[in-house]
Amino acid sequence: MPCTQEDTPLLAAMSHYVDDGVIPYHTPGHKLGKGMHPRLESILGRAALALDLALLPELDDLHEPHGCIKAAQDLAAELYGADHSFFSVNGTTGGIYAMILTVAGPGDKIIVPRNAHRSIIGGVSLNGAIPVFMRPEVDRDLGLAMGVTPETVEEAVHSHPDAKGVLIINPTYYGVATDLRRIVDIVHDHNMPVVVDEAHGPHLHFSPRLPLQALDAGADICAQSTHKIVGALTQCSMVHCREGRVSVPRLKAMLQLVQSTSPNYILMASLDVARMQLATEGRRLVERAIGLAEWVRAEINKIPGLYCFGADKLGAPGVYGLDPTKVTVTVKGLGLRGAEAERILRHKYGVQVELSDMYNVLFLITLGDGEAEARAMVAALAKLAANHAGKQDFSAVEDAYRLGFPAVPEQVLSPRQALFGHTKTIPFKQAAGRVCAEIITFYPPGIPLLCPGERISEEVIAYCQRLQEAGLHISGPEDYMLKTVKVVE
Ligand SMILES: Cc1ncc(COP(=O)(O)O)c(C=O)c1O
Repeated sequence: MPCTQEDTPLLAAMSHYVDDGVIPYHTPGHKLGKGMHPRLESILGRAALALDLALLPELDDLHEPHGCIKAAQDLAAELYGADHSFFSVNGTTGGIYAMILTVAGPGDKIIVPRNAHRSIIGGVSLNGAIPVFMRPEVDRDLGLAMGVTPETVEEAVHSHPDAKGVLIINPTYYGVATDLRRIVDIVHDHNMPVVVDEAHGPHLHFSPRLPLQALDAGADICAQSTHKIVGALTQCSMVHCREGRVSVPRLKAMLQLVQSTSPNYILMASLDVARMQLATEGRRLVERAIGLAEWVRAEINKIPGLYCFGADKLGAPGVYGLDPTKVTVTVKGLGLRGAEAERILRHKYGVQVELSDMYNVLFLITLGDGEAEARAMVAALAKLAANHAGKQDFSAVEDAYRLGFPAVPEQVLSPRQALFGHTKTIPFKQAAGRVCAEIITFYPPGIPLLCPGERISEEVIAYCQRLQEAGLHISGPEDYMLKTVKVVE
């Protein structure tokens, strides 16, 4: 009998195997938890450990699915409107690697936003592709990178008609979505596939109040972190694709390449169950999270010194849609840096945010939150505002921003050639003219100033020093103080 969305075929097959009382002479070595040290066994419990199973004839094979895993993936495809869906136990990172490896090969161009997550730079480094960068819009008041505009995409595809695809982030970490439908039309007119990093959007399909999910906007392939926003365990993502512009056999081969031959069955079952939960209750749960987030946003905006952007930003450059469940609270009005606010919220008020940057702290409201948590969060922010007004002087940061960003540096080598070539470490101040072998990004706004393979200029060195003096957080280089930098020999 065919499965319905209420079924969980993978979990059912696993439970059936355990209930059969089989004596396991196979991996994993802890044998249903019996061989596991009590320190962990007592926490996880025998029932969960019994489900830590291995590749067995009746449990199918993630890499060549034809049984219960195929049934589970087919249900996910039906739910999300994909031609094919694949489970990833290596997060969206693994999904992005596989997508990039699928659409581009060594030496091929791929168009990506400059504020790409490190998994995108990792993907192009793995396959030797040449990234062509598009600049995202930046909101200087918030210190955040927003989306890339359709105009920017148009220019990129026009200037690089030989590119093998365009990668778009939908939405950003902070919930900002660009006009994906228009971008898809532009890119398809140039006969290229649209690849979407939808790490923060596995719930978009379940409410008309959220930005369009990639597939609904006509994109060809996307990866979603089911674990980040909805009910799967950490590390669990899905890759969805439409046939036509993407080779499905190649995608399958690339997913094999970037994942273990021993994928964890509990992780995979969590994807099966998360899909069932979304199919049966997704609309209600996502609407509830949106409702809570909107209430929280309104309450926060009543607190003097705090600001939480929302619909007021719609229509700004790079802001076509907004996922309200990402609640960005700008704390600079309190004279606090985001990192200071994060520390106080955690250690004084027992609230942990998702991340902080120079001006902001980010809260994620999901189907796991309720009214009590929402009230506690607003109360903590009210106390923060009442008790911790700081005296931070942001003028140096603002001055640095006023200078504008240096141009994207000259690309001399592919990221792969730079990363895997012979490198050495030299003083950053003396690096002008050398080819960078690492990523250097300042937060905010999280747009790399240097990527592997790019020429380091006097202008970039001076700009980095300015941002450092202003106290911006550096991410990427081995020497996080940036006294030295890794360059190609
Ligand atoms: C925009 C973006 N893309 C991709 C990823 C990678 O996702 P995962 O953690 O599921 O590997 C992240 C993770 O934070 C992300 O923020």
